[in-house]
Amino acid sequence: MTLIIRPFREGDQDSLVENANNKAIFDNVKDTFPHPYTLADADWWVNQNSQKNADEISKVMAIEVDGKAVGAIGVILGTDVQRINAEIGYWLGENHWGKGITTQSLVWMTDYVFKNFPHIHRIWAGVFGHNKSSMRVLEKAGFILEATHYQSVIKNNIIEDEYVFVKLR
Ligand SMILES: CC(C)(COP(=O)(O)OP(=O)(O)OC[C@H]1O[C@@H](n2cnc3c(N)ncnc32)[C@H](O)[C@@H]1OP(=O)(O)O)[C@@H](O)C(=O)NCCC(=O)NCCS
Repeated sequence: MTLIIRPFREGDQDSLVENANNKAIFDNVKDTFPHPYTLADADWWVNQNSQKNADEISKVMAIEVDGKAVGAIGVILGTDVQRINAEIGYWLGENHWGKGITTQSLVWMTDYVFKNFPHIHRIWAGVFGHNKSSMRVLEKAGFILEATHYQSVIKNNIIEDEYVFVKLR
């Protein structure tokens, strides 16, 4: 298995749809993630997130396994007094779960963010209460559980706790 983390690019759309169009992924991510996930959604995503020039530092990356973009990992940088924070998020196509791929990707991405965004001091992730595998991924990548935000998120009409994991520089 060959794992590469790299910017999205033209041509990723088909494997994006193949892997992202999955209720088991949608159930664990924000509602801005489309479901069903169509070719138009993939086109929009690749257009938004592909590198426009060589010296641009990408904030969102494709998780490429054996030549195909089968997942994504990226950060949203905080603003104003929270500008030292980056929120990290990720998903991986279900066919590839359980092989340590996201853990490896998260370790890589955390290092990349601290290296390429020198003002970022804290990287955090919010996980829905039922998502034990994502919590395990964060722990394995060296994040610690900072807080539980009781009944703070609603997904599929169910209110849940959100677990906040952090890694400080
Ligand atoms: C969560 C997700 C990213 C995990 O990716 P992955 O590549 O399978 O993760 P890894 O293989 O690196 O590690 C998974 C770990 O979770 C564990 N795990 C799986 N199901 C579990 C469960 N029900 N309870 C506890 N641990 C579980 C695995 O055993 C493994 O830990 P181990 O190495 O100690 O055995 C993937 O399932 C996914 O994309 N889910 C949908 C989207 C999502 O949840 N995104 C994150 C939002 S915060």
